[in-house]
Formats: sequence, structure tokens, C-alpha cells
Amino acid sequence: MASSTHLSARVGTTPQAGQIDGWTLEEHGAVTSTNLVAAKLPAWHAVRADTQTAGRGRFQRAWISDAGGLWLSAVLPLSPRWGRILPLMTGMAVCQVLSGIGVAALRLRWPNDILIGKRKLAGLLIDQFTTGLAVAGIGVNVFNQPERIDGQLKGETTRLADEIDQPPSLTELTRMILGSLKETHTKIELESPDCWLPQLNRLWNAPRPVHLELDTANLTGTFQGVDAAGRLILSTTDHETRLYEPHEVRLLRDI
Ligand code: BTN
Repeated sequence: MASSTHLSARVGTTPQAGQIDGWTLEEHGAVTSTNLVAAKLPAWHAVRADTQTAGRGRFQRAWISDAGGLWLSAVLPLSPRWGRILPLMTGMAVCQVLSGIGVAALRLRWPNDILIGKRKLAGLLIDQFTTGLAVAGIGVNVFNQPERIDGQLKGETTRLADEIDQPPSLTELTRMILGSLKETHTKIELESPDCWLPQLNRLWNAPRPVHLELDTANLTGTFQGVDAAGRLILSTTDHETRLYEPHEVRLLRDI
């Protein structure tokens, strides 16, 4: 998880605020990054913007946030046992919505890229700016065309408008994703991992061969999914099973 930042968050005019399904939602025109706006808000607040001028991806990468995409950040309570599960739970909640609107062949790539085949449909960035709260940043390509802005993304990304007939409006998609996040959060809070772990693990399309870049070494093996504590499970080529904490893995690449 990334930590705090000093960029000023708002770029545009006064936001609209409203209540949906137990969330307080702020809607903005342009902001630097919805995660930065959400950094100052309490739990169960969310921020959506039409565009982001400094959208942030993992590994300090820029995230293209052109008009027509869903740029959303949700502030969630984070108890210690949630630390490693929350990013995975966010991916599961978003995948549930996408499957429900008819997106086929979806999969999660650890820890939380959402892909269709090899193309990225959505990315998630979890930040922790305040103790006890996490900001789950969710970017979904819907009607926007990021490859028009960065030609290098050609063939690498996809968008809902190319995957399903009549994607929902950004307002409707926001409502569905916030609802699913709340439901999934409650489920994980109340139910044993036996109830939700198999559902999460189905989303990886595992087992699959991968290359891991760790802080200390690089290795190749078979990704098997995650355990109830959110650790990555890898079978090595000599048939050992190893568990890795998310912070130990810099990058997982499919091979
Ligand atoms: C990644 O795949 O690298 C993560 C991308 C996360 C993008 C979303 S868009 C809403 C929120 N605000 C940001 O600046 N980033 C996240």
C-alpha cells in the first residue's frame, strides 16, 4: 500500500454529494486523483470524478483517466486482520459486478488487476493514508479509450463498451460497485473464509505458470491462489509449496 502524498487533490469546481446504499458519494468534474480526494474522508465515503489529471497506478505509474471511464475511490474501515485481504476483496467485489452485467472470461491477476484474456479492463490501487482506513481506488475502462492517449497501450487494454452491449452508465456502475463492496466487506467480516475463499480463488483461473520478482530473488513456479490470510501460494518446480506475503512480491508475471 502506498502512503500519504502532498499533492492538492481538487482541480475542478464544487462537487455534488449524495447518499447511496449506505455510502456518501462525492462526484467531481476533474480531480488530480480520486484516491487523494478520498484521503481526507471518513469510512463509507466515496469519490467519483469524470477525469483525473494525475491518476495513479501501482508502482508509481501514471494511470490514464480520460472521460468516459469510471474513476472511483471508496474509503473502507481497515482492522489489522483485513490488511492483506482488502485488496483481494476489492477485486472480488468489482468482478462480481462485472460478471453480473455479462462480462465473460473475466479474471483477476494477482493482486488485483482485472483482465479479459490478456487485456486489462480495470485496475485497483489501495492506499492507506490514515490508521484504520483504506482507500480502495478503482479504475474501469468503460467508454473511454486510453490507447488514444498512450499508443503503447494498444492491444493491452480493453473497455466495457467493447465487451458487452449497452454498458451501464457511470452512475449506475458506481452504485453497483459501491453496493458490492459493502456486501463483500460484510461477508468477509461475518463469515468464515470457507465461505468466500473458494469464490475468490476461482477468479485467478489458477493454477497458472508465473514468474515472481521478490525483493530478494526471482523465481518461476505455479500460482495456486491465495490462502485465508491473503498470502500468495506458489508451487515451485521442485514441488514445494511456498507462501508469500504481498509485500514480499514486487511483481507477478504470467508466463
Ligand atoms: C493499476 O492497475 O496500476 C491501478 C490503477 C488504479 C486506478 C484508479 S482510478 C481511481 C483511483 N484514483 C487513482 O489515482 N488511481 C485509482
